[in-house]
Amino acid sequence: MDINALRTQIDQIDAEIVKLFERRMQVAQEIAGYKKQNNLPLYDVGREETLLQSRTQMLQDAGLSPYVKQLFKTLMELSKGYQHRMTSEKNIVLIGLMGSGKSSKGKLLAERLGMRFVDVDEEIERTQGMTIAEIFEHKGKIAFREIEHKIIADISGEKRCVISTGGGVVLSETNMKKLKENGTVVFLNRDVDATVKTIDTDARPLLKDGAQKLFEIYDDRLPLYRKWQDIEIAGEFKTVEDAVDKMIGELF
Ligand code: S3P
Repeated sequence: MDINALRTQIDQIDAEIVKLFERRMQVAQEIAGYKKQNNLPLYDVGREETLLQSRTQMLQDAGLSPYVKQLFKTLMELSKGYQHRMTSEKNIVLIGLMGSGKSSKGKLLAERLGMRFVDVDEEIERTQGMTIAEIFEHKGKIAFREIEHKIIADISGEKRCVISTGGGVVLSETNMKKLKENGTVVFLNRDVDATVKTIDTDARPLLKDGAQKLFEIYDDRLPLYRKWQDIEIAGEFKTVEDAVDKMIGELF
């Protein structure tokens, strides 16, 4: 058999998968509508675990179990993202200290839920044509906060995005009120000892005198993060994936 014939087979299989995927997403949406009408939560941990087990039991080749588990985990995440998108216009807003992983975890969260990802610090750098460190150096902290304020005003008008903020966003009540108007706020409360050990201080002007400063900043801001959070994700996770698993579990 030649490679082209095999590729044709894959094309045909994929065409069926796409058709089935579309049907699965439509039904997921109907379920979301039902749950919304009946005030039921979108997420049901027990049901998901049963489903994963039953799908692997359907296999003829048990060696494929881990792959099927991964496939259905992804399918369920995508349908949760889709259901969220269909039933809510809300953003998911990540807050937390520098180095808590708002960008890396936010990016993966967005990808896994099929949502758009927006990074406030990246937007600031893009619109200013300078790095955050350069803005602090040439324009100063106050000017940085003003720019951040403007960017937040724009971004908080977005819908259905995962928004990663800068660690100091909570210093402004106006910023947080705007973000909260259309957003579920998730506080990434990462272990500060661990953060201090791994954080890149070069890119962070507030840590120019050393990463130890983070302990002080944490103590100052903790009450603010807690004031604005809807959900708190605390502790250390082995991988970004594990942290995102936890976030999805808490969000839906
Ligand atoms: C800041 C955090 C930074 C950046 C700026 C100020 C802060 O963002 O916005 O250096 O006040 O904590 P990250 O939290 O993404 O590092």
